[in-house]
Amino acid sequence: MGKDVIIACDFSSKEQVMSFLDRFGDVKPFIKIGMELYFAEGPDIVRELKARGHKIFLDLKCHDIPNTVKKTMSVLSRLDVDITNLHASGGSAMMKAALEGLTRPDGTRPLLIAVTQLTSTSQEVMNEELKIAGDINDVISSYALNAKDSGVDGVVCSPLEAGKIHDVCGSGFLTVTPGVRFDDASKGDQSRIATPARAKELGSDYIVVGRPITAAEDPVAAYERCVREFVD
Ligand code: C5P
Repeated sequence: MGKDVIIACDFSSKEQVMSFLDRFGDVKPFIKIGMELYFAEGPDIVRELKARGHKIFLDLKCHDIPNTVKKTMSVLSRLDVDITNLHASGGSAMMKAALEGLTRPDGTRPLLIAVTQLTSTSQEVMNEELKIAGDINDVISSYALNAKDSGVDGVVCSPLEAGKIHDVCGSGFLTVTPGVRFDDASKGDQSRIATPARAKELGSDYIVVGRPITAAEDPVAAYERCVREFVD
């Protein structure tokens, strides 16, 4: 898999996501299914969208004891998703167990990426409330390195962090980056943002784009603009 634009399909029903994707006709974008849609519709929504030809990033951010995460990942790998994820803060034993669970009998598996610190977590909250000491960028790099050493394929991060992650973990370690906005649009609730073109310059491997596409008057044109800026 190479550089691609992943549409965050943050909808709460099958009807909504299907009518949104119908607008794309024969074009089958890479899509992200998050907790909202998955918990509303269950695993059948993944099977149906896969059968329609979409690659799927299943964003459930698993975090539990190693044995539970291993068994959960085994179920997710049977759903044939392309990328799934977990929290790096679960530690290396959990991440290694996840990889074991994710690996199918034939040795293949979906890509596994880790969340380091949520982009909504500030320096202050991390230090004062979560009681994690240090500079947030150093913590992100350290969590990313731990994920890499555990065998995980990459991290979810801001495009602004992609360069540092690649410096620390190598260029082959994937950076999947939300927080993407066009330069003529509002930021919404995202703070550490970049345009698709800037995300490309900064070395993101995949951009995850939600509202700039899903809330656009012409979502197909907005998606094509992302592809033009980020991939072409
Ligand atoms: O609408 P928007 O482009 O902000 O959507 C970004 C998507 O990426 C959402 O589905 C959000 O949950 C997800 N995400 C994020 N920041 C993270 C991890 C995931 O924005 N750190």
